[in-house]
Amino acid sequence: MPFTQPQPQSEPLALFEAWFQAAGESGVTMPEAMALATATADGRPSVRMVLLKGFTAEGHPRFFTNYESRKGQTLEHNPRAALLFWWGDLARQVRIEGPVRRVSPAASDAYFASRPRLSQLGAAVSPQSRPIAGHDGLLRQVDALAAALGDAPVPRPAHWGGYAVEPESWEFWIGHDGRLHERYQYTRRGDAWDFALLAP
Ligand SMILES: Cc1cc2nc3c(=O)[nH]c(=O)nc-3n(C[C@H](O)[C@H](O)[C@H](O)COP(=O)(O)O)c2cc1C
Repeated sequence: MPFTQPQPQSEPLALFEAWFQAAGESGVTMPEAMALATATADGRPSVRMVLLKGFTAEGHPRFFTNYESRKGQTLEHNPRAALLFWWGDLARQVRIEGPVRRVSPAASDAYFASRPRLSQLGAAVSPQSRPIAGHDGLLRQVDALAAALGDAPVPRPAHWGGYAVEPESWEFWIGHDGRLHERYQYTRRGDAWDFALLAP
């Protein structure tokens, strides 16, 4: 598998992009799926899967969600997150940690407009993370909104958009037999990265 080996002088974003491309080419199912961990202001953690949807111009990984969801509310009160990619068949793992901020409304508009129409309708009607009476009711709301809109574009709901994580640290993990894994950590220091090899 042609994975780039981490080096002290590597730029972690470029290294990630090389690994991500190699994971995609190797046939990993949804290499863009990542676990997103957040914590409430008093330190209660929660974690769920989201999809990596590109990077900001600054190179910060992005995902899109409902700002009023559990994760959204948690991030509004404690805007820090950890991301985890696990490409199991390849024994590769990548961790990213750092502060989180909303992407610009224009960036959320652009990504929303690129989504399939059914996903747009679903995002518009779903009160993500809140109790609902039934799945059928949600589907009826999708149908009702579709009928009301006709051929008009689905407006991006104000409560739906992107977040970007500004990496303060990256860890690139390569699994080996006997738990003798390789762990390469990059920690931001000003405009540069400190590099460390960590014990497995
Ligand atoms: C593979 C996978 C990808 C997902 N991608 C997203 C996503 O990009 N955005 C999102 O809001 N939810 C996504 N979900 C659903 C979330 O895992 C979660 O159920 C939802 O966002 C509500 O989480 P919360 O209640 O913690 O806010 C995904 C789930 C899976 C299994």
